[in-house]
Amino acid sequence: MSVVTLTLDGRPVSAREGATLLEVCQESGVALPTLCHLDGLSDVGACRLCLVEVAGQRKLAAACVTQAQEGMEITTGSERLVRYRRQIVELLFAERNHVCAVCVANGHCDLQRLAASLGIDHVRYAYQHPALRLDASHPRFVADHDRCVLCTRCVRVCDEIEGAHTWDVAGRAAGCQVVTDLAAPWGESASCTGCGKCVQVCPTGALFEKEQAAGGMLSKHRDFLTYLKNAREKKEWLR
Ligand code: SF4
Ligand code: SF4
Ligand code: FES
Repeated sequence: MSVVTLTLDGRPVSAREGATLLEVCQESGVALPTLCHLDGLSDVGACRLCLVEVAGQRKLAAACVTQAQEGMEITTGSERLVRYRRQIVELLFAERNHVCAVCVANGHCDLQRLAASLGIDHVRYAYQHPALRLDASHPRFVADHDRCVLCTRCVRVCDEIEGAHTWDVAGRAAGCQVVTDLAAPWGESASCTGCGKCVQVCPTGALFEKEQAAGGMLSKHRDFLTYLKNAREKKEWLR
């Protein structure tokens, strides 16, 4: 295995060739905020929360989709980066209707946790809050698009782990939404197996099990992905 050496917040570190900057940070004990990344899924660089500064480059780099290169000098916590991260999270709150007090994920939501860790106690931008439909047509699950942050974790887990590819992204800009089976109601989807993986990985209360009250969706187990992937690689079901 080839190794590259780089500088992380002024500290020399080594990494395996091909590792992403996010992996380098995780292995070096440097905490970076993430939202669209989830161990076990491919990375798409959608949320931009993991942005870092690379010396000599004007543009910021999303750590989850940037490979570590020999000699890179990375900064992860400058004033500019913290300002951008706060701005991104505030814009997410301004974009759709995230009223935590009445959300099933209240108290165990990744967006809420991020806001708290960045010290966000108000939003400086005008609320958009478009009228979005709530899809309760599935017998077991609900999709509340008001809570969606378009991280596409549901799209990727359904495609890459379940192999159903029920979810996809439709529309552009403010009209962008995740949809099931070419925008048919979820309950009418011919491809959905009802496995619930998308519900488990959703970072907010956008996808949840029916009959949950505010703060009630306690049963999200996002670490099941690592277990599934390891078991598949080791062919544990063929023994
Ligand atoms: S329940 Fe399973 S198959 Fe259905 S949309 Fe979610 S991940 Fe895909
Ligand atoms: S429904 Fe949940 S997992 Fe899917 S894109 Fe929206 S926030 Fe992400
Ligand atoms: S975690 Fe890197 S862009 Fe979302």
